[in-house]
Amino acid sequence: MHSSNDILKPVTSRQSKPLTGNITVAGDKSISHRALMLASQALGTTTIHGLLEGEDVLRTAEALRACGVPITRDADGVWTVKGLGIGGLHAPSQTLDMGNAGTAARLLMGLLSTYPYDIQFTGDDSLQKRPMMRVITPLTQMGAQFETREGGRLPLTMKGTELSIPIRYELPVASAQVKSAVMLAGLNSVGTTIVIEKEPTRDHTERMLRFFGVEVTVDTNHETHEITIRVNGQPNQTYADRSFTVPADPSSAAFPLVAAPLVPNSSVTITNVCLNPLRTGLLDALRAMGADITISNPREVGGEPVGDITASYSALHGTEVPAHVAPSMIDEYPILAIAAACAKGKTIMRGLSELRVKESDRLAAIIAGLVANGVHAYAEGDDLIVEGGGEAPLGGGTVTTHFDHRIAMSFYVLGLVAQQPVTVDDTRAIATSFPNFMDLMHSLGAPNEQ
Ligand code: S3P
Repeated sequence: MHSSNDILKPVTSRQSKPLTGNITVAGDKSISHRALMLASQALGTTTIHGLLEGEDVLRTAEALRACGVPITRDADGVWTVKGLGIGGLHAPSQTLDMGNAGTAARLLMGLLSTYPYDIQFTGDDSLQKRPMMRVITPLTQMGAQFETREGGRLPLTMKGTELSIPIRYELPVASAQVKSAVMLAGLNSVGTTIVIEKEPTRDHTERMLRFFGVEVTVDTNHETHEITIRVNGQPNQTYADRSFTVPADPSSAAFPLVAAPLVPNSSVTITNVCLNPLRTGLLDALRAMGADITISNPREVGGEPVGDITASYSALHGTEVPAHVAPSMIDEYPILAIAAACAKGKTIMRGLSELRVKESDRLAAIIAGLVANGVHAYAEGDDLIVEGGGEAPLGGGTVTTHFDHRIAMSFYVLGLVAQQPVTVDDTRAIATSFPNFMDLMHSLGAPNEQ
């Protein structure tokens, strides 16, 4: 677990020559967590190709192993999970330390809430600050009990229940993590669990459950746009010998994808990227800013739309990003803010309250990092406003990342364009989601920092 006493790993990022080439980025983080968890619920063996081997996902694998699930990795990077079936997990042999991984913590709380075990969950300094009441509330309604620190934070003890009650739950926040936690608890509850969302959020759990043969229904009310998701408890379900491929993570692709339009004369292709329409808000925002982005080779992999994205150098202008698209690009605001800093004119990003409870308070971290590098950026309520001058920002500042991977990678990209080098105070968190980020950026032509 990292702590403020650990040794920081800073990097100084400098103006780059054109970025060119063809790369594949790491597997999708959301899908990787779910692939391991759902495979653990199958009765049979699942092989997973392209699993993200970042620290967050390795925490999920470790937690499932602690619940008795045999999980192995072969020399070619193919993972094998021997599922124990729904209801088949063992009492964990240790405290489940989820490190920096909010998705792992919240989804596993859902999955394990329907077992009669006392389970301790903890996490790193950043995860201990993040709100857990959003999953505790519905899981309590389903019958689990919790002992938490003040405000429902980790570390906590969950006392699960064997007699989980299916509920009808209207999501108070647009959160795929909360939706998924309730659905995973519903898998092992007798009856139909219903989740209602007012704004659509990423639907990887729904898609993957179907891929594994579990019936999930999704109905959209065309007047209110409300979405109703139903999942039936599936005790004794048998499904076996599936092979699953994880597409590349659009939230990781976002960094080279934004760097290419910003660094003069660049053109970068990123292959095999998940293009789930509930994840592609960044592409729409960049196009609205004038970015030259094309998609080729569209296809389907593991129940998800996938394609290759090419982004090339473009003169960008400011835009307004409405609040209702926020869930489709929630992890991309830090890097979009860097694009906005280089664009001509004002970019207004609306409705970003959820950014305050990510791996760091991202709204504050983005503004502090931009201001330190000579960019006019500020918040008005929950909106983020960045005023770009249409030229390379001044740079020369030091950015505090608060152990937040996306803040670190975003400001590294700023350094590739800024007039003066940008220092990122700590790059260790990048390993949580995108372990070979630096190597890939160097392979495209970004300068070696040493
Ligand atoms: C995720 C959902 C999002 C996102 C996170 C991954 C998921 O969080 O920010 O990185 O895998 O379900 P919320 O659902 O809390 O908005």
